[in-house]
Amino acid sequence: MSELVIETSGLRKEFRGRGGVRVAVHDLDLAVPAGGVHGFLGPNGSGKTTTIRMLLGLARATRGEMRLFGEPVPRRLPAVVDRIGAVVESPKFSPNLSARRNLLLLSRSIGVPDSHVDDAVETVGLSGREKDRFKSYSLGMKQRLAIAATLLKKPDLLILDEPTNGLDPAGIREIRETIRTLADAGVTVLLSSHILAEVQQVCTSATIIGQGRLLASGTVDDLLGTGTAYRIAAADPAAAAHSLVSAGVSVTPEATGSLRVETDDPESITRRLAEAGIWLTELTPLRPDLETFFLELTAASSLDGPDTSTTGYVTTPQETVR
Ligand SMILES: Nc1ncnc2c1ncn2[C@@H]1O[C@H](COP(=O)(O)OP(=O)(O)O)[C@@H](O)[C@H]1O
Ligand SMILES: [Mg+2]
Repeated sequence: MSELVIETSGLRKEFRGRGGVRVAVHDLDLAVPAGGVHGFLGPNGSGKTTTIRMLLGLARATRGEMRLFGEPVPRRLPAVVDRIGAVVESPKFSPNLSARRNLLLLSRSIGVPDSHVDDAVETVGLSGREKDRFKSYSLGMKQRLAIAATLLKKPDLLILDEPTNGLDPAGIREIRETIRTLADAGVTVLLSSHILAEVQQVCTSATIIGQGRLLASGTVDDLLGTGTAYRIAAADPAAAAHSLVSAGVSVTPEATGSLRVETDDPESITRRLAEAGIWLTELTPLRPDLETFFLELTAASSLDGPDTSTTGYVTTPQETVR
């Protein structure tokens, strides 16, 4: 069994408001293995930030247990805090100082050598721009500088809460490359996001939550499985569809003119079509993406009816919370 870097058991957070008690995190069991990029995924309001804040000692859990590197937190947080970097809220940098100057001030305040600044700048891909003033930075560069700041103490675990929020596609790609570089260097990354399809490209494993509850967890391959559908294209799609349907295969035409074929045996498709004198120009395995997987998960759970176990909220008799 591989070492778990983050572990929670029965983690719960209730917020008390005028309308009653709102359960933001619902008895959550998290297990993040060492190494790789772990996606912490769920729509807005599903409890990602609240969970991360509890892990980092920024919010108190209502109940449940948490461990980081095997140490119970928040009690033993001081013992592990130097191994953890986190970007949860936008850190404050001085706008008129250069990025490098900002990082140097930070590195001296936490007592790490200046050389860590250059390493961090390099890892996040800001080399050559580190002498520019912070205020001249694009949003994506600012976000990478925030990651650089957490790298100064060379953490083993990096927690990034929606680091690509508000970034354009180029900025998103740069963050993704930074995350890959870090993972390749052996840092375990917990990456939260509400955009499931986007993080799928960088995650090795993922936990999906909805309304504070665990919906699914595992390696991306385990979660999505191997494809049982293929996209095929042929010069005469109607003839191809006819041939397959008459063999009892389920075929759905796509807008592009290609066909979606449900099968776990692509050989039988190519053989059947070849026998009919139809030659394929495309055969592509179709794998569901995390976005589709999530929508299917939540659609299934909403069939159970709107009680507290699916809404995630405890309601008072007089008033419904949200
Ligand atoms: N300080 C707070 N007081 C009351 N409710 C809160 C507070 N922080 C978060 N919540 C609620 O908890 C739920 C989860 O929020 P959050 O953890 O921010 O979700 P996410 O990060 O997944 O978007 C939401 O319904 C949110 O409104
Ligand atoms: Mg959040």
